Amino acid sequence: MNKPITIPMRAGIASRQAHADLPPGTYEREIGREGFSGQATHMYHLHAPTAWLRWDGPHRPRAYDLNRMDTAASGLMNCPLDAPLVASNQHMRLRCWKTEEPMSHLARNADGDELIFLHAGGGHLYCDYGHLLLRDGDYLLLPRGTAWRFEPTSSSFLLLIEATGDSFQLPDRGMLGEHALFDPAVLDVPQLDAEFIGQQNNAASSREWAVRIQARHRVSTLVYPHNPLDAVGWKGTLAPVRLNWRDIRPVLSARYHVPPSAHTTFLTQRMAICTFCPRPAETDPGALKVPFFHSNDDYDELLFLHSGQFFSRDGMGPGMFTFHPAGFPHGPHPTAYRTSLTNPRTEFHEVAINIDLRDPLDIAPGMSSCERTSHADSWNGYLDRADHQLGQVVA
Ligand SMILES: [Fe+2]
Repeated sequence: MNKPITIPMRAGIASRQAHADLPPGTYEREIGREGFSGQATHMYHLHAPTAWLRWDGPHRPRAYDLNRMDTAASGLMNCPLDAPLVASNQHMRLRCWKTEEPMSHLARNADGDELIFLHAGGGHLYCDYGHLLLRDGDYLLLPRGTAWRFEPTSSSFLLLIEATGDSFQLPDRGMLGEHALFDPAVLDVPQLDAEFIGQQNNAASSREWAVRIQARHRVSTLVYPHNPLDAVGWKGTLAPVRLNWRDIRPVLSARYHVPPSAHTTFLTQRMAICTFCPRPAETDPGALKVPFFHSNDDYDELLFLHSGQFFSRDGMGPGMFTFHPAGFPHGPHPTAYRTSLTNPRTEFHEVAINIDLRDPLDIAPGMSSCERTSHADSWNGYLDRADHQLGQVVA
């Protein structure tokens, strides 16, 4: 059986504890495997790893504003399967769907589980399993092959995350126990309630109903002479589940900046979805209060801001996302970093979703219209060499 090389090694001036009590005037960078859970070394630099002068080449940090995304030409039927592609690889497809009108047909994704995040709006979900009323901040996990439709009650903005050929599962909570992060009892499933029975019995139930099925990323349509959402009962272990970020109770430490992986909400074989929820900041004077610099060489990272101001990024608003490809350094922006040293926030109120992808991600060609092209140059302005140390800034 293969074994990693794990000789404890040390050179020069280094902290005894990662992410805390950095040598004065240094920036910490993590070089690691397996995201944040494998072997790692922490480097202590005199300059910020993101304090570059110029950027050249095809790979670079990117930022996009989905509020500016034009979805008018996204399809003929107000169908989520026609929603414009934002980014994809062979194991994930991310789409952005903005809708105001109720669907008059059903959608069924046979290519993989679909994880919906409702960024704005709300409405009624009707599916094979029953009815759920959705609100902003909801994740809705639809098992592969579930037929569903959405009736928004207000203008809605949804992210659709397809686990292509895969399924979403929950992470192992390990020492924290089964009820940490969120109690499984907070997961809601669709109900065969009065609304569901009502849509079986109203006038529309006897008209023709189309079921649009996506398989191998092509859409085919089945037409029934009746409403296919006609279940009178079901039993089993597989069903859509709803989780709102407000029911997530993030793990944290007053003395240690926990890595993003501690906020993992859903996992597939090749993707992790993390949710950053409101939480108090670290209080130990020596503890990092923003992420350490790193290049996340094993994963491409996509961070979507749902609400608030993201604690380590400057100039990012709700509805925007950043894309940081594996292999290129990133870390806290200069203003956020300086604030963490001089006047650290005591609480973080933002809500954000991080999608970590084990395989290289392609941003969809149409996304250039809503790209903030200056993002790669947005890290100017760090403190100069040795002019800073944790807890105070030397004038
Ligand atoms: Fe990262």
